Amino acid sequence: MNPGQFYALPQSPQTFKQLLMVAGYDRYFQIVRCFRDEDLRADRQPEFTQIDCEMSFVEQEDVLNMFEGMMRTLFKNVLGVEVADPLPRMSWYDAMDNYGSDKPDIRFGMTIHEITGNVKGNGFSVLDDAAYVGAIAVPGGAEYTRKQIDEITEWVKRPQVGAKGLIYIKLNTDGTVKSSIDKFYTPDQLKVIAEAVEAKAGDIVLVMSGPEKRKVQTMLGVLRLEMAGRLGLRDPKVFAPLWIVDFPLLEWSEEDGRFYAMHHPFTSPKPEHMDLFNSDRKEDLERVCANAYDFVLNGNELGGGSIRIHNADVQKRMFEVLGIGPEEAEYKFGFIIHAFQYGAPPHGGLAFGFDRVCSLFAGKESIRDFIAFPKNNQGRDVMIDSPSLIDQVQLDELFLDIRPLPEK
Ligand code: AMO
Repeated sequence: MNPGQFYALPQSPQTFKQLLMVAGYDRYFQIVRCFRDEDLRADRQPEFTQIDCEMSFVEQEDVLNMFEGMMRTLFKNVLGVEVADPLPRMSWYDAMDNYGSDKPDIRFGMTIHEITGNVKGNGFSVLDDAAYVGAIAVPGGAEYTRKQIDEITEWVKRPQVGAKGLIYIKLNTDGTVKSSIDKFYTPDQLKVIAEAVEAKAGDIVLVMSGPEKRKVQTMLGVLRLEMAGRLGLRDPKVFAPLWIVDFPLLEWSEEDGRFYAMHHPFTSPKPEHMDLFNSDRKEDLERVCANAYDFVLNGNELGGGSIRIHNADVQKRMFEVLGIGPEEAEYKFGFIIHAFQYGAPPHGGLAFGFDRVCSLFAGKESIRDFIAFPKNNQGRDVMIDSPSLIDQVQLDELFLDIRPLPEK
């Protein structure tokens, strides 16, 4: 009916639910189908379901309390599990520094310790030249054989982890130390390093380093989960939910030379960071914190949301920071900028991934087992063999021409 024009399937009803708040609705709740064209993983499907919510005249605290209540009730009624009350909260910065992940699994310790200051000046260039050095202490790891350590080293060098190598320090139960860097450090120095990582006799300290702190931390975070898995510390019947708060508002992409919104472009900067947000300096913008939060369970993000921008000028500034010019912003998002000009109430909300809640409650990582007719990991519905080619009659009806596909 509208040749040459397209619908975009909703990633989520984000702007619609905000428009309802501007229209004077107090609260909105919806179980909603969402569609996303993104890389597939065990916990992602192109079609999935959200428990979606928006409320006006709320602050972050109101949203967290309400949904903590909802999740607590679900844990109790569905699983008979009492979770911590109140749930722990952790800032994004602490999550990255200590767990190397914005969705930390807090069922076990083995946290990351920065040891940059402890390792410099012994003539070992890998660590001397690193901007960041971090480590974890793996319980009982002093028992590992040379072969086992080599296997773990190969494991972290796989492209999925991306480490250049792995340094170890074994704290043997007889009080001796053994390390891959004992040419450069005395046993006493190695013990001091191990102490900084809170290692005990019988542990192995695994060390990584590199030019970028967050990258090294992320790799250590992946290693931490792997080692915990091998030690049987990730029991799917143990539930340790928490909130992650104080996210950065923006994420700089080196590749594209621009900022992206870490949550989405409608998330508000913290009021105390408005000066930083209005600055033109990259360093200032990187420091802006958002009124955003995620609900995390056992190393998985189950839900996320934010307090939104409700002022047209702040929303315009956000598009400007994201490199979306005034004309493009007007064309794509004019409806919401105009709506804000009528006087929008402060509002915020969040959405839980319904499929993820179901799978984790059942102790499974893949949401595919909880969706009737899921897509496979190529994004294909193998039951009806879709997506598939369509014939010329249908193409003509849709006013579409297919260009020759690029050679593979
Ligand atoms: P977000 O993009 O964080 O936020 O999504 C919210 C939750 O939806 C689930 N989810 C998915 N589940 C399965 N497959 C996917 N491809 C997929 N993508 C996301 C996750 C996630 O935590 N509009 C905002 C919410 C808000 O700000 O209110 C939004 O969609 O469990």
